[in-house]
Amino acid sequence: MTRNATLESALDDAKRDYTQRNPASLALHRRAAETMPGGNTRTVLYADPFPLGFARGEGARLWDVDGHEYTDLLGEFTAGVAGHSHPAIRRAVVAALEGGISLGGHNTYEPRFAELVRARFPAMQRLRFTNSGTEANLLALSLAVAATGRSKIMVFAGGYHGSVFVFGGGATINVPFDYVVAPYNDTAATLTLIAENAADLAAVILEPMLGGGGCIPADHEFLRALRAATTENGILLILDEVMTSRLAPHGLGAEMGVVPDLMTLGKYVGGGMSFGAFGGRPDLLDRFDPSLPGALPHAGTFNNNVLTMAAGIAALTEVYPAEATRPLSAYGNRLRARLNGLAEAARVPICFSGVGSLLAVHMLTTPPRTPAEAAAGNATARDLFFFDAVRAGFWLAKRGMMALSLPLTEADADAFADMVREFIETRGPLLTAAA
Ligand SMILES: Cc1ncc(COP(=O)(O)O)c(C=O)c1O
Repeated sequence: MTRNATLESALDDAKRDYTQRNPASLALHRRAAETMPGGNTRTVLYADPFPLGFARGEGARLWDVDGHEYTDLLGEFTAGVAGHSHPAIRRAVVAALEGGISLGGHNTYEPRFAELVRARFPAMQRLRFTNSGTEANLLALSLAVAATGRSKIMVFAGGYHGSVFVFGGGATINVPFDYVVAPYNDTAATLTLIAENAADLAAVILEPMLGGGGCIPADHEFLRALRAATTENGILLILDEVMTSRLAPHGLGAEMGVVPDLMTLGKYVGGGMSFGAFGGRPDLLDRFDPSLPGALPHAGTFNNNVLTMAAGIAALTEVYPAEATRPLSAYGNRLRARLNGLAEAARVPICFSGVGSLLAVHMLTTPPRTPAEAAAGNATARDLFFFDAVRAGFWLAKRGMMALSLPLTEADADAFADMVREFIETRGPLLTAAA
């Protein structure tokens, strides 16, 4: 790394270097942009000047179309906990393929997968499958409105519940529920808002740790207060555990002692295939029982697709059973503490927030407790961290998120700590000057 006079000039140089090193990614992007706006079909993957294109992955390694090798610290935003092409997932998918896909009826995988999901996440006494976390939340919220006869939904600033449930500021195309937006981790203000809207609130939905919002865990007291206030007022508490269910044997909510009325899942639970699920109290979910008069409808051509069902069974039994959650979380906690120790020793404003295997880098001296605190971090410095990490062979989200996967080793953690140490040494003076 060369030493620059300002963060801005360092970032310009890093982007120039990135452009020179990645001509095949640039060509792929230009080609994609001829048919897809901005060459993009997942907003989160966009990066200026252009995103990398990947050719393949294996274990915890990725190779881009220019032939560079990366240690994958992103783990497909939590869906890739197994790493790439895990043999148990491959076996399950190949076996399902051989039995025929798109059967147009129920299949033998469905009840087994549902039993496994319920055993793992006891809050989901009854459950239904969807194709994505977005859809799971859409169904859970629609159910809450139908079940309570109320119209408002409480969400939290900085929360993310899917493509049409973005509460992080900026433009949105959110599904038009009547939202009340509360401040995350501010118990007093949230309880006041609940009291003011109690008669109209169908549900309060939140992530037990803001994932996309910067890996900001809920305070225990905040979550418990929400549980009590929602119960008292007949409001449904929905825990969106699309990202966080991997963090403890029964999910992060259960770990914090909170049982929601409804819970949603996505990502790794489907073994890397398209997946979502919503579930919870039997009296709520049983409204979907088609044998009952006036049952609520819930269709979806691929809800029970055999590839997801089969891969999900392998994920929950062979790859990431409940007992595998603690060692992976411990690995993440050790790495986070080590990285934060490096920054603290150097007195440089960079830190790593999160719980267990989910981390986010912030250009702050201490991990943020709220999205507003997270927003105060220097965005140029965070972009520079991304480009420096990529240059050093580590793949993570542009916004600084990491979701550690099972095949990562201690040597990978050492190598990443070395990269962070070098970033602190080389860029530290610029960060401190800009803080
Ligand atoms: C907390 C949370 N909820 C919901 C979703 C949406 O899931 P999907 O991308 O499968 O629609 C995400 C995706 O990142 C998420 O992080």
